[in-house]
Amino acid sequence: MRKPMMAGNWKMNKTWAESVVLAQGISNRCDDAWDAVDVVLCPPACNLKAVHTVLEFDRRDIHVGAQNCHWEEGGAFTGEISIPMLEDIGVDHCIVGHSERREYFSETDEMVNRKVMALVAHGVTPIVCVGESLAVRDAGTYLEFICNELRADFAGLEPEEAAKCVVAYEPIWAIGTGRTATPEQAQEVCSAIRAALSDLFGEEVASGMRVLYGGSMKPANVDGLMAQPDIDGGLIGGAALSADSFAELVEACL
Ligand code: G3P
Repeated sequence: MRKPMMAGNWKMNKTWAESVVLAQGISNRCDDAWDAVDVVLCPPACNLKAVHTVLEFDRRDIHVGAQNCHWEEGGAFTGEISIPMLEDIGVDHCIVGHSERREYFSETDEMVNRKVMALVAHGVTPIVCVGESLAVRDAGTYLEFICNELRADFAGLEPEEAAKCVVAYEPIWAIGTGRTATPEQAQEVCSAIRAALSDLFGEEVASGMRVLYGGSMKPANVDGLMAQPDIDGGLIGGAALSADSFAELVEACL
């Protein structure tokens, strides 16, 4: 039985003060039942420590995740943050390969793979994002596209290393658009992702890995998505920016 995960990707939203207020609001909604879900908050990097401090003070078993990292331990990489620096401030999860980074910052599968390898080596859980554009979806080649991404992003990992990773299927055409994939569309792809992981790492590892859905997941549609056998939670953008809506998504996993 896979433990569900609900991760909030705040993107470049929420100032320091807004991040503290949002983290406090989510902490206030947290109760013992939430132990059944891995909850991860991913604020902007400058607010990671503030969010971690709120959760630590409230003694909440809620994880803090980064939205990106560099694979090197340190050095002349202006603007980047290393994994040891993230660990220093309580980060234990990291989103990797988000479509917005692939599109706006030319992040390649090779770069994603190096980040995944480095995160696993540090014991930080990668949340590896894959997903197709509307053009690829309309062309009907989306399963092949996504499985190719997956193979490249997980190249060189041993099964026991892959087992520590989470995959997030985020159809680009559903991100921030309000056009959510149907449960059937999302299940089709998440099932194909799990089959590809089984080919790469064996059925036992694949059956134990979490596969999340991201792309306009909201309280109104979460039940249909979470009812799918190969969907283990969500990677949430807009609905994560409100404590109440994010709490509803967590509680939909209970
Ligand atoms: O990483 C999650 C994000 O891309 C989904 O955004 O606003 O469609 O929930 P949203």
